[in-house]
Amino acid sequence: MAKKAKQIAIYGKGGIGKSTTTSNISAALSEMGYKVMQFGCDPKSDSTNTLRNGKYIPTVLDTLRERSTVKAQDVIYEGFNGIYCVEAGGPAPGVGCAGRGIITAVELFKQQKTFEELELDYVIYDVLGDVVCGGFAVPIREGIAEHVFTVSSADFMSVYASNNLFKGIHKYSNSAGALLGGVIANSINAPYAKEIIDDFVKQTHTQVVEYVPRSVTVTQSELQGKTTIEAAPASAQADVYRSLAKKIASHTESKVPSPLATNELREWAAKWGDYLLALETGTIRTENAVNI
Ligand SMILES: Nc1ncnc2c1ncn2[C@@H]1O[C@H](COP(=O)(O)OP(=O)(O)O)[C@@H](O)[C@H]1O
Ligand SMILES: [Mg+2]
Repeated sequence: MAKKAKQIAIYGKGGIGKSTTTSNISAALSEMGYKVMQFGCDPKSDSTNTLRNGKYIPTVLDTLRERSTVKAQDVIYEGFNGIYCVEAGGPAPGVGCAGRGIITAVELFKQQKTFEELELDYVIYDVLGDVVCGGFAVPIREGIAEHVFTVSSADFMSVYASNNLFKGIHKYSNSAGALLGGVIANSINAPYAKEIIDDFVKQTHTQVVEYVPRSVTVTQSELQGKTTIEAAPASAQADVYRSLAKKIASHTESKVPSPLATNELREWAAKWGDYLLALETGTIRTENAVNI
């Protein structure tokens, strides 16, 4: 019987580090010998860029605009270590729904039984999560992804986007079944950033799967058009991504998060604002971090 790929979706606010993190997870999984597909679901269509030496690939929607019939193989490109790279694509600027690329691409692969045929171990969807609209909700709504993770920094806008995703998962949890695996905390360097994220996951009954520091190694690798796993395999940052990839690969227990209501999230943020101000003015010190 054909093997069933484990499907994982990674959501988060635009620019938060989804593609960087996802590409490094894919690269680390491929290093471990797994067959991986990275499925870019951001209309930016640059998800798989650092898996392909900085080269962009034609998207599913672009390819469909050019030809009437498209085979799955026509839109899959080889990346680092044999990773299968796909970009769903976006609408022509100014028209159409940004999520249409995902719907179209997912349907194409389903019809052609692509995942089964390629005998993939992992399919990782890299999805824009600012708005969980119809198209972007596909991986969770249709029960495609079994486990969802969100990339978030300690910035309010990023936490806000993650909380919105939790609301989406909450909404679809009965009908589809995609559940939250946890938060990938990105760009966590200052102690207060870790405290903020730790408190957010506590409030929403979820967990941090990995703390990923902001690192110049990532910047250097990206400038070379590569993942950190490829460009700096011996670096501490590459080991953080390997550790994250292992946790995601072996992850089995996902659950429905408890999103905060918008006013609750605002109040929660305001408390942290007061706390950070007190830290700055010296009223309290970091070692005395309080539970607020
Ligand atoms: N841990 C990190 N350390 C340094 N730079 C990072 C890190 N994570 C992301 N970045 C940088 O942030 C920018 C946005 O990341 P990207 O992965 O493209 O975001 P997204 O896919 O969420 O839009 C990129 O220039 C990337 O190199
Ligand atoms: Mg991206």
